[in-house]
Amino acid sequence: MCGIVGYTGPRQAAALVLEGLRRLEYRGYDSAGLALIEDGRIEVHKAAGKISVLEKALGAKLPAGHTGIAHTRWATHGAPNTVNAHPHTDCGGTLAVVHNGIIENAGALRTALGKRGHVFRSETDTEVLAHLIEELLPGTGSLVEAVAGALHQVDGTYGIAVVSTREPDTIVAARRGSPLLVAIGSGENFVASDASAVLAHTRSVVYLDDGEIAVVRPQDYRILDLDTVEKEKTVTRVDWDLATIERGGHAHFMLKEIMEQPESVRNTLRGRLLEEEGTVRFGGLNISDEELLKVQRIVITACGTSWHSALIGEYMMEELARIPTEVEYASEFRYRNPIVDERTLVIGISQSGETADTLAALREAKRRGARTLGLINVVGSTIAREVDGGIYLHAGPEIGVASTKAFTSQIVAMALLTLKMGRLRALSILQGRDVVRALAKLPELVSRVLTKAPLIEQLADRLIRAQNVLYLGRGYNFPVALEGALKLKEISYIHAEGYPAAEMKHGPIALIDDLMPVVFIAPKDGVHQKVVSNIEEVKARGGRVIAIVTEGDTALDKLADHRIEIPETLDLLTPVLSVVPLQLLAYYIAVRRGCNVDQPRNLAKSVTVE
Ligand code: AGP
Repeated sequence: MCGIVGYTGPRQAAALVLEGLRRLEYRGYDSAGLALIEDGRIEVHKAAGKISVLEKALGAKLPAGHTGIAHTRWATHGAPNTVNAHPHTDCGGTLAVVHNGIIENAGALRTALGKRGHVFRSETDTEVLAHLIEELLPGTGSLVEAVAGALHQVDGTYGIAVVSTREPDTIVAARRGSPLLVAIGSGENFVASDASAVLAHTRSVVYLDDGEIAVVRPQDYRILDLDTVEKEKTVTRVDWDLATIERGGHAHFMLKEIMEQPESVRNTLRGRLLEEEGTVRFGGLNISDEELLKVQRIVITACGTSWHSALIGEYMMEELARIPTEVEYASEFRYRNPIVDERTLVIGISQSGETADTLAALREAKRRGARTLGLINVVGSTIAREVDGGIYLHAGPEIGVASTKAFTSQIVAMALLTLKMGRLRALSILQGRDVVRALAKLPELVSRVLTKAPLIEQLADRLIRAQNVLYLGRGYNFPVALEGALKLKEISYIHAEGYPAAEMKHGPIALIDDLMPVVFIAPKDGVHQKVVSNIEEVKARGGRVIAIVTEGDTALDKLADHRIEIPETLDLLTPVLSVVPLQLLAYYIAVRRGCNVDQPRNLAKSVTVE
């Protein structure tokens, strides 16, 4: 999942596209490059590694050009090196292409083009696009027709931007499967993978849908379909401002986003709690109570951290709304023959709203007649635009690759939806009011947990040399154990596993020795006593225990080597509090180990290829 940005207008493009690229770096940071058009020539500069490497190579005097495209790469086809960095050009060097996605039939196209004399410089799938367009350009009236012609020949996914010396002030951009937008300025225009790249210049954007192609010039832009027929599109105003995508004085976006959780949870709750009725209201659910009452089964599908919040959602739905609920890995759900129909509600959870597997799983569910709902953070994202209805998290932009505030907001959004479904069924108004009151208290309780950051930082010092860590929890906090392990793995590169605490006896207990830190999530909930027994089993084998406990709970004083207290709340809401110390622990350990916390190796913020 690469980042693409382009500019055409009166200003010098290089500085503008480099600034946009820096804001997209969380999408991939294996290599970077740009192409600029000036005096009928294309100048291409690219470098392996982060954008800073490219900027250093470019030096203070940036190359000239009023039209330019740029790319930051997450390698899928071809090693992360300079040759495979984008942009890719044709044989004559008269056009350049940047691409986000995978051309699945690139092999066959490359062979055919090679036989017709085209010379390939890179190992990438993308380069076939440059040669296909090169072949079609002479015979067509315009760049857009050549690009459309080329795209008719490719299978797979793409978000692309193309420039050519033939139309020096034009950028042609197109999407199928990977996000892309046109950003409208005054007397200048941009294209970008997401709005964060252009927020410094405009908030007016047009989101491209699959099968659309844009012709962008300084004074105007046109949206066409792949048969170059004009299309009408709405201009959306992005409500995030620049400050929200800055680090705001924090050392890392991840720490900023962890510390923002009282506010992000408050924003997810804002305007949705109805204490008197003991229920909630949603603005954009777009599914009536009558239709919700017809739902006989729920399937929640997602990937990564979002899949962990889906698991918590399953427990909530079955406990409070009494609706049979299953959780599916989106990548598995989309290819197996799942049983869903018009009585099934399929919920897709995704921070970015662009994760390819989750998008495809929802499309598959829709094909089979299910109603689809999205719990999404990024406004205007593809999933948000394709599902029947949805709940926006309003957690604000999440730039750190390791998801934190989106996770707690996903849990809160699932609790709100559960309350809605439950009150339509078995849940009494008094039970509903209890949940509403507990939800309303959450932002303040999260703030209280964040005051433990210095203590957690000290604890992190003791764990930076750990080779392996085990996370254990029960009930609502089993998925939190999975999430704690994922956070540590993805930013500190320490191997970690999360397990239901009782499962430990069926294998992982063999790993326990005095070198294996074991993190227990043990709040005072319905399964607390069971977790205490599991802690005793670990202590009996000499394991080092770190326990997340409820304030004032002394049961583990003698058992746990380290205790981190969290405030009391309803069982179903404890994950919103118990995950925060685990986010901080992973963060401080990774910082101490000198890891790049915001851009961990081999990862990217939204996985738009399968
Ligand atoms: C989590 O920290 C990771 N960034 C990753 O697992 C992420 O949760 C997953 O890729 C799903 O992303 P989404 O929520 O944007 O769909």
